[in-house]
Amino acid sequence: MADKQNLLPAGTKVPEHIGVIMDGNGRWAKKRGLPRKVGHREGAQTFRTITRHAKKLGVKYFTVYAFSTENWKRPKDEVEAIMDLFEKYLDEVRDFIEENIRICFIGDRSMLRERLQQKMRSVEEDSLHFDSMTLLIAINYGGRDEIAHAARALAYKVQSGEMEASEIDALALENELYTSKLDGDKAPDVDLVIRPSGEQRLSNFMIWQAAYAEFYYTNILWPDFKPKDLEAAVIAYSDRHRRFGGI
Ligand code: IPE
Ligand code: IPE
Ligand code: MG
Repeated sequence: MADKQNLLPAGTKVPEHIGVIMDGNGRWAKKRGLPRKVGHREGAQTFRTITRHAKKLGVKYFTVYAFSTENWKRPKDEVEAIMDLFEKYLDEVRDFIEENIRICFIGDRSMLRERLQQKMRSVEEDSLHFDSMTLLIAINYGGRDEIAHAARALAYKVQSGEMEASEIDALALENELYTSKLDGDKAPDVDLVIRPSGEQRLSNFMIWQAAYAEFYYTNILWPDFKPKDLEAAVIAYSDRHRRFGGI
């Protein structure tokens, strides 16, 4: 708390849940005449710094979009390089555990390498009881895929007689989303979505959970994104007037 007061102007409302679309790694590398994978490596460093900073600001849930269900369309060597980086960073991400950060993954992991899946499970288990902040890493994540997955889970429940079709409402569906299946915990809706790199779109990120999110776009490329840029996004959020359909 003391930290937070030093970093943000007094009275700043900090979002409970921030989502970040970590975009612009490829362009960052291209600008320097470097291979795209170097951009992903730099982006991974930024991820570490910004995650720690989110915790310092008092954010409770921090979701990062690391790999989408559409990113498999990229050249095989780029996808391989990204998967190699995930494996490497899953070892390093263990540092977060020492900082009392809980780590969860969202997305369809069945398509990922077995070794990566094992590491994901083990990081989740080892950080289960930490509660200063929950970090959700979205890998092979797509909002449409997540909703289809939830619909399927409800269909099975109806088929087995566990519930009636007429009982399906928004809350029942929400309860089947990846973000509601965090080993006994459920992430709240995302309050603020940050997208660097100049693109102004969701690209299939948390399309259900972002129904009432505030959006913050910046032209900064993700590898150049600094703690002060996160603070700027939080301050901008704090000045917004959220109405949720009311007046
Ligand atoms: C985001 O950076 C990382 C992933 C999608 C894995 P990009 O690789 O999309 O970077 P740009 O958009 O090409 O600059
Ligand atoms: C979104 O970025 C996915 C991640 C950052 C993981 P993309 O670079 O894949 O999105 P588009 O293709 O520009 O919409
Ligand atoms: Mg991109």
